[in-house]
Amino acid sequence: MERAAASGLPQANVYGVRPRDPRCRSVRSVWFQCSGGEEQDSAMSTTIILDCDPGIDDALAIAFAAASPEIELAGITTVAGNVGLAKTTANALAVASFVGAADVPVTAGCAAPLLRPALDAGHVHGDSGLGGAVLPPSARLAGEEHATDFIIDTLAAAPGEITLVATGPLTNIALALRRQPRLADWVRDFVIMGGSASRGNVTPAAEFNIWADPEAAAIVFSAGWTVRMTGLDVTLLARATAAVQRRMRVLGLLGSRLLLPALAQYRDSADTTGEPPVHDVCAIVSIADPAVFSYTSALVQVETHGALTAGMTVTDFGATAGHNARVATGIDAGRFWETVLGAYQRLPVARDTARDTARD
Ligand code: BDR
Ligand code: CA
Repeated sequence: MERAAASGLPQANVYGVRPRDPRCRSVRSVWFQCSGGEEQDSAMSTTIILDCDPGIDDALAIAFAAASPEIELAGITTVAGNVGLAKTTANALAVASFVGAADVPVTAGCAAPLLRPALDAGHVHGDSGLGGAVLPPSARLAGEEHATDFIIDTLAAAPGEITLVATGPLTNIALALRRQPRLADWVRDFVIMGGSASRGNVTPAAEFNIWADPEAAAIVFSAGWTVRMTGLDVTLLARATAAVQRRMRVLGLLGSRLLLPALAQYRDSADTTGEPPVHDVCAIVSIADPAVFSYTSALVQVETHGALTAGMTVTDFGATAGHNARVATGIDAGRFWETVLGAYQRLPVARDTARDTARD
């Protein structure tokens, strides 16, 4: 606070977010670059809110977001998806604490899709949602407000500054947009893991996050912003291969307590080899290291009625107008894993082999 005042910057709001400063690229870089140069880390970083449903790959995405010097995690919001809301929230809290992000606000959102009954993917992510990983429960509780309040208030306090990322069903995001349509103008960027321009993974047509709440996805894709859709077309190529898992074995407790036991019980429908794709990590890597992915503009519409196709993201790369999405169409998988494993190495819990550091 004192440093912000001394630098002439506006005071932070309750979330620690200061309004936009045109001199700098992100809230964190405002802090680093405009505070007299006291910080050693002057890297440009992007501030994000991560809306997620942990979930094995969501958990790996939280760990990457906490580890990456290119990402500043302003908050985690949770939604029902892979497992129920109580579990996704408890998992988000536990993972955040485990990876040393116990100060990042965690806020719970919607417990069910907008119109449809709640469904889950416990058969993929295990009963707890974290596969075989058993982390100490966090001593923290989630914030008392609703996730949509957190999203709206945080973005309103820093228009143009914060990137919103969704790696679960889009229920919270759709509800937030319904409550505050200006959200679409306030985000710096909006990135999802979800959808597919080709095949689905729950049905031949639909990917899980869109299939779980297609009405929410339809609202989100027609909100007047550009959705950066990091879907199955690329995430199925980001696999934790045997070689990658060998490199995780030297990541201390991060590897032995979280990454490896979680992946060992990840029953992703695309995985018949013990080398599951880590879908959600892709969304965060696309922000931390944009060169990993290539994108093509398209018009994407969500099918909500089809008996066989509900949840399909109907992607028209040939549309001459009405583009509402940039769809990931290419990935450099080698660079992806160098970025992810390089970031993981930075976490204290990756260098700790004995002590149980998973405390708040
Ligand atoms: C998506 O579905 C979920 O099971 C994963 O966490 C990921 O977000 C992949 O289709
Ligand atoms: Ca997810």
